[in-house]
Amino acid sequence: MIAASAQDKQKEIAFFDSHAAVDAYDVFAPETNALLIDAFVRLSELPAGSRVADLGCGSGVFTDVLRQKGYASTGVDLSPKLIGIARTKYSGIEFVEGDVEHLPFADGSFDGVLLSGLVHHLPDPARCAAEVFRVLRPGGKFMAFDPNRMNPFMYLYRDRSSPFYSSVGVTANERPVLADEIAAVFRRAGFAVGTEYLSNLRYRYVASGRVRWLLPLYNAIDGALFAPAFMQRFRAFVLTFGEKP
Ligand SMILES: C[S@@+](CC[C@H](N)C(=O)[O-])C[C@H]1O[C@@H](n2cnc3c(N)ncnc32)[C@H](O)[C@@H]1O
Repeated sequence: MIAASAQDKQKEIAFFDSHAAVDAYDVFAPETNALLIDAFVRLSELPAGSRVADLGCGSGVFTDVLRQKGYASTGVDLSPKLIGIARTKYSGIEFVEGDVEHLPFADGSFDGVLLSGLVHHLPDPARCAAEVFRVLRPGGKFMAFDPNRMNPFMYLYRDRSSPFYSSVGVTANERPVLADEIAAVFRRAGFAVGTEYLSNLRYRYVASGRVRWLLPLYNAIDGALFAPAFMQRFRAFVLTFGEKP
């Protein structure tokens, strides 16, 4: 079970607003952004023209790749400053400042929802899952991507129970996810849910200067070690996806 606790919104906003003061939030290499959106297209089977919300859109990089795929995409984020950057960078896309636990949209407004690196920022994602269910039309699809607590690197570097945990570049709210826990939350919200695992996602940078020099090595190992099917549960990212009946 996920320990039920509330997200500290002020800490979340302060962290991402301060990030926006120095840079857009855009951590993956472009080919990785494309890989994740290709997974959304494959798993959702939504045709071009579908209305898709990108929740936790940050500075809008995935909202824009969704648009390039032909979707009518809308970005939503809690951080006013990242939303400001997104509006400047990607004119013509609608970006909305809002909380995924209280989405500012009518029931059934969307054909698809992408939760782009968002769920692991919610100590209890049940309220978010209920909102995703509400704003999707019947037959609507969602996909979430999040770091996997079963991956040794994600665990050692990013899980607060690890002796090597680094709090540099993360918010107090976030923690890599366990695939079964996330799937159960979305199932309880009413979805038919599936899980996949992805490796070979390449980071552009890591926040901590202490480990930044290891990034090329991490990218190489991540691509090779977790490629075999029997290693899939240990891949760096969990994809949780599903359909509203
Ligand atoms: C890891 S970042 C991902 C940003 C972007 N999707 C990307 O992958 O580059 C998580 C984002 O979720 C946003 N976020 C966190 N909690 C949120 C909430 N309750 N409602 C809306 N956005 C939230 C943060 O402001 C941040 O931009």
